[in-house]
Amino acid sequence: MAVCKLGRVQCWEAFVSFLPILSACGDGCYCMGLDRKTKKTVDGAGSILVTGGAGFIGSNFVLDWLAAGGGSVVNLDKLTYAGNPANLASVAVDPAYSFVHGDICDVELVASLLREHRPRAVIHFAAESHVDRSIVGPEAFLRTNIDGTFTLLRAAREYYDSLAGEERERFRFLHVSTDEVYGTLTPEAPAFHEDTPYAPNSPYAASKASSDHLVRAWVHTYGLPAMITNCSNNYGPYQFPEKLIPLMIANAQQGKALPVYGDGQQVRDWLYVGDHCRALRTVLERGRVGETYNVGGGNQRSNLEVVTTVCALLDEMVQESKFKPHRQLVKYVTDRPGHDRRYAIDARKLEGELGWRAEESFEAGLRKTVEWYLANAAWVEGVTSGTYQQWMKQNYAGREVGDSASAVAKPKTTAVAESMR
Ligand code: NAD
Ligand code: DAU
Repeated sequence: MAVCKLGRVQCWEAFVSFLPILSACGDGCYCMGLDRKTKKTVDGAGSILVTGGAGFIGSNFVLDWLAAGGGSVVNLDKLTYAGNPANLASVAVDPAYSFVHGDICDVELVASLLREHRPRAVIHFAAESHVDRSIVGPEAFLRTNIDGTFTLLRAAREYYDSLAGEERERFRFLHVSTDEVYGTLTPEAPAFHEDTPYAPNSPYAASKASSDHLVRAWVHTYGLPAMITNCSNNYGPYQFPEKLIPLMIANAQQGKALPVYGDGQQVRDWLYVGDHCRALRTVLERGRVGETYNVGGGNQRSNLEVVTTVCALLDEMVQESKFKPHRQLVKYVTDRPGHDRRYAIDARKLEGELGWRAEESFEAGLRKTVEWYLANAAWVEGVTSGTYQQWMKQNYAGREVGDSASAVAKPKTTAVAESMR
């Protein structure tokens, strides 16, 4: 497959691959509504620029978007350890998809992509996303999440100012953010609402909160037509196995300890990734400019509940496993510093105003997810070598995980985490 110097798949190659199913549209275009040279849409659908589309949520979004015939997608991704082109292998030669290997902090690259593709929207996923990594090394989080968002906003503003008429009316900047900006909840506190004051507790959360504030300022000061979504914990296919659910599946399959931080009673509000992608499409199409929308599935579960449910699914699905019952692999380890105790999302604004609803129950979504990881062992293997192993050592060595299983080990908490409750 030919690629240009920016890493984009050349359209002509895609045309040849799809020859049997394509026909000329009569407007100089031979590629499913795309101009053969520029790859810009000629059918009026308009392209979108996605950042971080090779990561977990971004790749699910791109796959769903193309499957739904949403128009062409330009995916700008730096391919950090979390970015994986294999997630998008099924659309790699789709003429509606182009990949650009690059950094959102590269202002010239971002500006040239906007000028060249004239997208109708930017959907901004790119971020450093793992809280534990932000504790070990916050620098990359400040750079990508804050400087990177600033760069995109600067370029998007310049681009927006150059637009006129329908193109200008239509343009949107959708900033994909997190519920962690709101901080932590006590067990009885009401769920996070769009008006809940920001109180980020980790370097990751602080960097995302900063980026949200920048987006807000660009709306109010420069009139950029942006919107923000703040979503709870996602799970589903293609999630990097540093995050709780895929980590537990991977470790349990190999008979490794399942490291539960502290007492395992921290609560997260889980949302299936496909529901999140649908929420983003809904906000993009019908959301009000300048608004923030909370996205959540109403599935509050303690970490221990999540881990033991994964174990029960593996007991059922991997009949021949030597490690049954997998629950015996649970090991309480030293807590995450500053660990937020509970997140919960009040998504009534998105539901009431835009008619979105989470469709996947946690039980069905988790079952599908475990099935996906079992069926995609090669994908897991591909992302868990080299630097992944270094990260596992770095994050878990000091937590006394050990090699053996211990279901009844006492919960371990750090003084700092304890003092923050
Ligand atoms: P991820 O870590 O799986 O993927 C991040 C992607 O961004 C990767 O493909 C990576 O290569 C790319 N990237 C990183 N730095 C970049 C840079 N400087 N330039 C270009 N690309 C870069 O993250 P995710 O879990 O898919 O999260 C996506 C977005 O959604 C993030 O903004 C995150 O804050 C937000 N979010 C995530 C969750 C969740 O549960 N995972 C929940 C709510 C919000
Ligand atoms: O709430 C949305 C956020 O959810 C997103 O913004 C983040 O990008 C995403 O990473 C996620 O953050 P969390 O810190 O909640 O996710 P993580 O999967 O890392 O951890 C989930 C919970 O499980 C958390 O309470 C910490 C705990 N945990 C995690 C790991 C990796 C463990 O007990 N053991 C572990 O080994």
